Amino acid sequence: MEEQTINLPSNSQNETLLKIWGNSQLQGHVTISGAKNSALAIMAATLLSADECRLGNVPALVDINHMGNVLSSLGIKLHRNQDCLEINTKHITTSKPPYELVSRLRASFFVIGPLLSRLGAARVPLPGGCAIGARPVDLHVNGLEAMGAQVRIEHGIVHADIPGSRNRLQGADIYLDYPSVGATETILMAATLAEGETRIENAAREPEVVDLANFCNAMGANIYGAGTNTITISGVKSLHGVDYSIIPDRIEAGTFLVAGAITQSELSLSPVIPEHLTPVLAKLRAMGLKIVNDEPNCLRVIPGPLQATDIETLPYPGFPTDMQAQFMALLSISQGDSVITETVFENRLRHVAEFKRMGADIRLKGQQAIIRGVSMLTGAPVVATDLRASSALVLAGLAAKGITTIQGLHHLDRGYDNLEQKLQQLGAQLERVDVNYEELPLEISMGVH
Ligand code: UD1
Repeated sequence: MEEQTINLPSNSQNETLLKIWGNSQLQGHVTISGAKNSALAIMAATLLSADECRLGNVPALVDINHMGNVLSSLGIKLHRNQDCLEINTKHITTSKPPYELVSRLRASFFVIGPLLSRLGAARVPLPGGCAIGARPVDLHVNGLEAMGAQVRIEHGIVHADIPGSRNRLQGADIYLDYPSVGATETILMAATLAEGETRIENAAREPEVVDLANFCNAMGANIYGAGTNTITISGVKSLHGVDYSIIPDRIEAGTFLVAGAITQSELSLSPVIPEHLTPVLAKLRAMGLKIVNDEPNCLRVIPGPLQATDIETLPYPGFPTDMQAQFMALLSISQGDSVITETVFENRLRHVAEFKRMGADIRLKGQQAIIRGVSMLTGAPVVATDLRASSALVLAGLAAKGITTIQGLHHLDRGYDNLEQKLQQLGAQLERVDVNYEELPLEISMGVH
């Protein structure tokens, strides 16, 4: 007889689990939604102008709702109609979003740059740690200070002010110690309204940074070099409202490519920008899969035997950390030994323990996971440890023999637009089930067997 700990939800005895009947064969076409990480940064950037902006292709995600709530807390008016989000930033009533909202979503810290530039002051709570690592904001703060902001951190709140009577930040040359996506975006946004020229060296090159720069340029900013490691921003006095459509989500697209590969199914996806997926496509091809781009903005994955490969996560255009967990699921059933090295976040291998529950053969050594491919995973109850781990467990569950149940769905809902419905349309068998732990028979609710 063995006793095990059951993670009961903190406030209630009810929880929704995702139940997946594995060994599925999928087929068909998936429509890829707009990029979460672009949409979040661009929502923050709307604060730079006092005009209304209309964003198209905004994904339906809990993280987007959280960011909307952060903007509402500043007095901003938002109206959503399907994938279109209208944001009226005319009246900002406070420069202090509350901690309760900011703590839900790290990206909400990104409002600091636009608030400071537009109002001359911002009071934004530190977002705190999160499931995948400490995620400090020192690079954001150093960048704002280099542009003349006075920044102090008191009682967990970052107080940023533009001193003196000029009320504008000053352009500066800023070298980032690490090409942080968030810090590049914070500095880029703040610099659009600064006096003079700002140069960001060792800038992040992610497609979402380019999308943000394109949005700001459409509002009248002067930004050059986004997508390279040197971005130059010539400050302007004001920006105007625009209609803008968010790019497709490369991580959602990558997740569906892995769904095809792991279930040995032919799937097509659109819209996608294949260049944004270069490192992901290179690894899938190295594993023996055929990926076809025979129509514009569309990719098709053609299954085949899966071979092991090594992966190291890196800033773009390196392999994305946001695809690491999904590839671990795939490599778990590939032939041979693979090594995954996580270099971007310090605590992003917690899903290893969950894959092992499903029969994967993985050893952890520091920031490396050594994977020996097995012929089949088996369904098991598992816990989603973060956003991308949750989709990786769904992928593993689709390929596994038997039933998998996933706990911790709030992670999944943060970042995937209708994942279950999209998978069901492809023929996958999965559904949410409500569990009341109080009503379970004693031997199950005690976790004793
Ligand atoms: C963004 C993405 C996230 C993705 C990550 C890396 C959004 C909303 N999220 O997160 O999905 O996984 O890029 O591609 O766009 N760091 C510091 N100091 C800082 C800032 C970052 O040390 O001031 C470190 C972080 O702790 C981490 C590394 O830099 O180890 C990368 O973080 P960063 O690129 O900033 O990621 P985010 O912008 O938070």
